[in-house]
Amino acid sequence: EEWDIEYEQGQDFQNLLRAATELQETDIPVAFPTETVYGLGADATRSSAVRAIFAAKGRPVDNPLIVHFHSLSQLRSLLRGNAGVTECATDPIPEIYKPLIQKFWPGPLTIILPNPEGSQLAPEVTAGLNTFGARMPRSILALALIRLSTVPLAAPSANASTRPSPTAAEHVKDDLDGRISTIIDGGPCEVGVESTVVDGLSYPPTILRPGGVTVEQLRQCPGWENVVVGYKDKHEQGIKPRAPGMKYRHYSPKATVMLYEAGTPAPDAEQLLDKVAERKSVGIVRTKTWARNLGVSVTDADAHVNGVSNSIPKAHPQDASPIRESNLLRSFKQHQVPHAVHSTFHREADQGPLSIWDIGLGKSTEVVARGLFSALRELDKKGVDIILVEGINDTVEDNIAAAVMNRLRKAAEIRI
Ligand code: TXA
Ligand code: MG
Repeated sequence: EEWDIEYEQGQDFQNLLRAATELQETDIPVAFPTETVYGLGADATRSSAVRAIFAAKGRPVDNPLIVHFHSLSQLRSLLRGNAGVTECATDPIPEIYKPLIQKFWPGPLTIILPNPEGSQLAPEVTAGLNTFGARMPRSILALALIRLSTVPLAAPSANASTRPSPTAAEHVKDDLDGRISTIIDGGPCEVGVESTVVDGLSYPPTILRPGGVTVEQLRQCPGWENVVVGYKDKHEQGIKPRAPGMKYRHYSPKATVMLYEAGTPAPDAEQLLDKVAERKSVGIVRTKTWARNLGVSVTDADAHVNGVSNSIPKAHPQDASPIRESNLLRSFKQHQVPHAVHSTFHREADQGPLSIWDIGLGKSTEVVARGLFSALRELDKKGVDIILVEGINDTVEDNIAAAVMNRLRKAAEIRI
């Protein structure tokens, strides 16, 4: 319902307080961690602050933002609009969402709500719609920031528009350095893909975006047994024409992404070389095995120098109360990037050598989701021309494979 922060003298707390003050007193958005991806937050009630989010990201203004709350009472007070607290005895949160809130909040779920008459929300947040997306993140830093700033925070993912979403503070810096002044570093994100967006105002209730909460988890809630999928990502395979302005790019690294749908036989070495004949360097993202060395002369100096590994530990997966200092501090210290194994394949003279950067994300869907955006960004840093990604089976409803494949299909220019 409601909670309070015990005021402390620690440096972390002072930094959070300074960020909250910045949100209240300036229009410069603040980047903060959530359990899904990093968000770029601003006071959702102030137009000038919200417009600055769109400007910093280069985001099209017709794409509405999600509003983040620290408590149900903060959400209720917004939903009551100009009706106020006293006149309105009934709960403004629609019944259909109650079981979801009970089960998944705080957590990776966004619900679509009616924007009330006389809403405090800046019109830019909703992009002209009469609804808005509401979410209560479970990252303790996010909750504390919203609580300290005392206003709901409008926050899209903190990447530059079209780029892969940021799952570490470094990713935000890479995209937005010079455009914002504060990033709260909470270490790598626990989930790695964005929240599931659901609309329970229409019947049957609809999933607008797959994410950290699975279809099966939703179906277990009363009123949500017949939830339908309201997004499309399975259009025909092959090369997707991308006329500028026709369709927004999304989740895309600089390199061309070639996605192998699950069930596609893995290419043998010859087919692979054929696919990348024109290219000088290729990245590979595996989702079933660890990285492999395809060529000769392996130089994986990175691995030994930094001691990095593919496993990003969950910050606080099972705790009922995530406020555990030891976990938090551990998470600050660990920024781990998926490790790319390098090898060089010597081709015929006219083609020259092929540089191969190979990342194995591991087998579990959760681990793949956690490392996916980071892997795409890492391969961009290696300067590869093309990234071959091994898709995963998303016909099952009991894991977050649908979210992983949805992001990959949007990122891919070529699908096989
Ligand atoms: O996990 C997340 O949701 C992250 C973190 C930062 O909370 N945020 C995020 O925001 O992914 P963004 O802006 O990248 O995605 C917002 C999604 C978009 O797909 C948008 O179309 C949808 O939410 N959305 C927002 N308001 C909506 C509305 N009123 N009706 C339908 N869809 C809406
Ligand atoms: Mg986004």
